Amino acid sequence: MTSFQFIFQYIKRHKVRYICGIITLFVVDFANLFIPKLTGTITDGLTARTMDWEGVKRALLAIFLLGLLLAIGRFLWRFFLFGASRSIEKELRNDMFRHLEKMSVEYYNEHKTGDLMTRFTSDLNSIRMSIGPAVICVFDASVMTVMVIGQMMYYVNVKLTLLAIIPMFFILVGEIYYGKVIRGRFQARQEAVSNLTDYVQESFSGVRVIKAFVRERAQRYGFARENKNTMEKNLSIAKMQSVVMPLLDVIIGISSLITLIYGGYLALIGDITLGRFVAFNQYINMLVWPMLACGDAVNMFSQGAASISRVQDIFAEKPEIFDGEETKEVEEIRGRISFRHLTFIHRGHTEPTLKDINLEVPEGTTLAIIGRTGNGKSTLVNLLLRLYQTKGGMIFIDGQDINTIPLKTLRENIGYVPQDNFLFSDSLKSNIAFGVEGEDMEEIIHATETACIHENIAAFPDGYETIVGERGVTLSGGQKQRSSIARALMKDAPILILDDALSAVDTDTEEQILRNLKENRKGKTTILIAHRISTIQNADVILVLEDGEAKEIGNHETLMAQGGIYRDMFEKQQLEAAAANEVSVGEASALGREDEKQAGKGGAQQ
Ligand SMILES: Nc1ncnc2c1ncn2[C@@H]1O[C@H](COP(=O)(O)OP(=O)(O)O)[C@@H](O)[C@H]1O
Ligand SMILES: [Mg+2]
Repeated sequence: MTSFQFIFQYIKRHKVRYICGIITLFVVDFANLFIPKLTGTITDGLTARTMDWEGVKRALLAIFLLGLLLAIGRFLWRFFLFGASRSIEKELRNDMFRHLEKMSVEYYNEHKTGDLMTRFTSDLNSIRMSIGPAVICVFDASVMTVMVIGQMMYYVNVKLTLLAIIPMFFILVGEIYYGKVIRGRFQARQEAVSNLTDYVQESFSGVRVIKAFVRERAQRYGFARENKNTMEKNLSIAKMQSVVMPLLDVIIGISSLITLIYGGYLALIGDITLGRFVAFNQYINMLVWPMLACGDAVNMFSQGAASISRVQDIFAEKPEIFDGEETKEVEEIRGRISFRHLTFIHRGHTEPTLKDINLEVPEGTTLAIIGRTGNGKSTLVNLLLRLYQTKGGMIFIDGQDINTIPLKTLRENIGYVPQDNFLFSDSLKSNIAFGVEGEDMEEIIHATETACIHENIAAFPDGYETIVGERGVTLSGGQKQRSSIARALMKDAPILILDDALSAVDTDTEEQILRNLKENRKGKTTILIAHRISTIQNADVILVLEDGEAKEIGNHETLMAQGGIYRDMFEKQQLEAAAANEVSVGEASALGREDEKQAGKGGAQQ
């Protein structure tokens, strides 16, 4: 689809406004034509003394009324055409957002936030210019040019008019060429702006890392580089414009000079009257504007076309994860999960992240997954949520392939605490009630009590109304994790996934949360991912992942008896715990894990 076809789909929806706008534009231009004629008539009438005071008054009244009509008309076409272009901008922005919401996590890994943001702001702005002001310029200019030229030929003199329009052909041809060249430069400029936005965005969200590593200076240099690049791209546009625009002025100036000289000569020898010469003069001035407007329109169209193709890029990428043809609605999800020969390769990887995982998780049981970082634990649960796409026939819920369960149903039935627990810049209450309709305080408190965060929240001066900053910076790591658990519990879903969600919580609180969960989630399936054996030893099934393989499966007792990786881990962690205890006798032991994490959280890239 060409840029024009793409944007025309939107313009079509507002055709009434466009047509009304263009008609008023037409009326205004038409009315405009009479003013030079009237001044011409007055001049001639006064020169030849054929017009009396009454006649002058009538002509002046006509000019006044025309002026009024013009003012109203100008208001109306602005109202119609600017209104339509603003509406299209809004619709396009909504469509972009809706489309992007369907894109997979992988898409966001591959596209930078700043770049996407630029497309939502500056690109949409240039698109709006090209479908509003530029359209006006073109219509106004062409209608006015045709009418003015016709009028000049008819009312003044044909030869004179022809002389006046010869330069316009050169200007037109020049502008078409110019439009082609400048479009490429606009595209380059938008890319530079995207990179700059991206750089700013990353520098701000990574501010803690930058400070902790004292990289301000390097970061500043990096910023200056992006900034300079943007300037250069802007300059390359400005350079071209600063050559072309004055050149246009010069051509227009010379051509009106020539026609004025010739027109003056014609008036002198009496071929045309003085009044017509005056009118001609005004007509020439009326032609200057359309020519300049065409230049502006070419600029705006080129810029708009460059931006439309950037926006089209967004729509060109189709969502990878969606409800396919085999999708069947499910009555109720009960929570039996099966992995059958599950093998998964991340995009861009050659080795599978998960290799031939076979596992049954009966309804209402707790599965624990343990293993070193990078062993595929998060990947496994992300697959269950269909955040990444697998081939069919590998993951089943209640015996149904998850690829055939409607995405909405699947995800609504899974409570999920992601490893990088993200909180929105909103009140804690809204954050916790995020996944459900309404904000029922009783339910919220039930969830926060289960997640052992209610007391903390209640102790904040603003309680549940406390606004957590971007990414919840005002909360400690453990508090964020527990708020995130409360948010997942609100859904009361048949399946709950906690991806390393207790790592920043001290062991006592952790035990309490686990006890609460056991009671709260009776009869429902829970998946716990952890590093600490203490977190998971009571799980019904424990899966030990190593290098993406299910190395050991069993419960605490059987795995201990097996004497493999799990037992090694257990013994190592016991030793570590004993050593830590020895070091921190006395008040140091009161310092929970949470405080350690809190102190260290500044360094974590979030
Ligand atoms: N979106 C992704 N794209 C490509 N590779 C990924 C992606 N997410 C994770 N990986 C890779 O998959 C492996 C397992 O990661 P992950 O599932 O996060 O492990 P764990 O949760 O056990 O720490 C790692 O090697 C990681 O680099
Ligand atoms: Mg992980």
